[in-house]
Amino acid sequence: MRRQESPGVTFVPVTEYAVQAEGLVKEFGDVKALNGIDLVVPRGKVVGLLGPNGSGKTTTVRILATLLKATSGSAQVNGFDVQRQADDVRRSIGLTGQYAAVDEFLTGRENLTMFGGLFHLEKNYVASRSDELLHKFDLADAADRPAKTYSGGMRRRLDLAASLIAKPGILFLDEPTTGLDPRSRIGLWDVISELVSEGTTVLLTTQYLDEADQLADDIVVIDHGQVIAHGTSSELKDQIGGDRIEITLNDEQSAARAIDALSGVVTGEPTTDGAQYSAPVAGGSSVLIDAVRALDAQNVGVADIALRRPTLDDVFLTLTGHGAEDQQPERPEPSRRGRRGGRR
Ligand SMILES: Nc1ncnc2c1ncn2[C@@H]1O[C@H](COP(=O)(O)OP(=O)(O)O)[C@@H](O)[C@H]1O
Ligand SMILES: [Mg+2]
Repeated sequence: MRRQESPGVTFVPVTEYAVQAEGLVKEFGDVKALNGIDLVVPRGKVVGLLGPNGSGKTTTVRILATLLKATSGSAQVNGFDVQRQADDVRRSIGLTGQYAAVDEFLTGRENLTMFGGLFHLEKNYVASRSDELLHKFDLADAADRPAKTYSGGMRRRLDLAASLIAKPGILFLDEPTTGLDPRSRIGLWDVISELVSEGTTVLLTTQYLDEADQLADDIVVIDHGQVIAHGTSSELKDQIGGDRIEITLNDEQSAARAIDALSGVVTGEPTTDGAQYSAPVAGGSSVLIDAVRALDAQNVGVADIALRRPTLDDVFLTLTGHGAEDQQPERPEPSRRGRRGGRR
């Protein structure tokens, strides 16, 4: 349990979890978007909600942000019930959507001023907070240009800045980097990491395994509106068996001798494909040395040898029988014209 930093005017229950959801079900007519989601986000942590397109990520976030009512189940955010205390929940959170809420025709600064107005914040506060955020997110030079002149990465940073205007302690980020080029993604990861280091709690949705791996302390994997796994990145990786040694032999004729030579080094059945050899191992990188020695003793030439930790993609494949990226289009849409919040 952690004390609230500012006791403030309103009573804020001090709870261990910033977000707690139990048995969330959401039906849209015949479509069961959520089928009993349980989720906790400890204060000060980043939890990644990882799943392919259509798995229920946005629906979950919208329920937690009080924008959508669950068919059944319950949730508390910052100790407040999302149904009975929606106003308190809204005051506790910032929300950045997959579809930016930025107004293209306003400048960056005007966008932030507008958001400050939505929160009924005092003008001087909004002006100084806007300056602070524009600097922090590297938008100071572009602050007085219309947002329609911004790159995709700049818009996302502006959208994020807008959600932070009221200094929320809890931030919901719905696919913050989908559609961004690699450099902008990494820039946004840095910004998110910095917010977290300042104590912000984050629930992040993503369909990118590397993003969850990079940012999240805990990962909840969902598929078809259900949690199919949760744990830290390395716990998830462990679920599908640990490391593998992967060797490229100089020639495929030596595959049989390699299998023989390494039988005392590896911990499970090897597979071979031409000159490629792969097998489960334990004990970390020292097995590489043992393997090289064993192969050398049998005169098996090696072109390449590596230890491979399983990726989260492997986790998804193991858990669902399909890769996480199967159903998703190529990174979409650099242009976001005409798409504002509230898609549905
Ligand atoms: N307003 C809606 N009406 C009908 N179906 C919806 C609506 N919103 C979401 N869905 C469906 O619910 C499922 C989960 O959607 P969503 O939460 O947007 O997934 P994700 O954000 O993981 O891509 C999908 O099958 C989607 O088509
Ligand atoms: Mg979504």
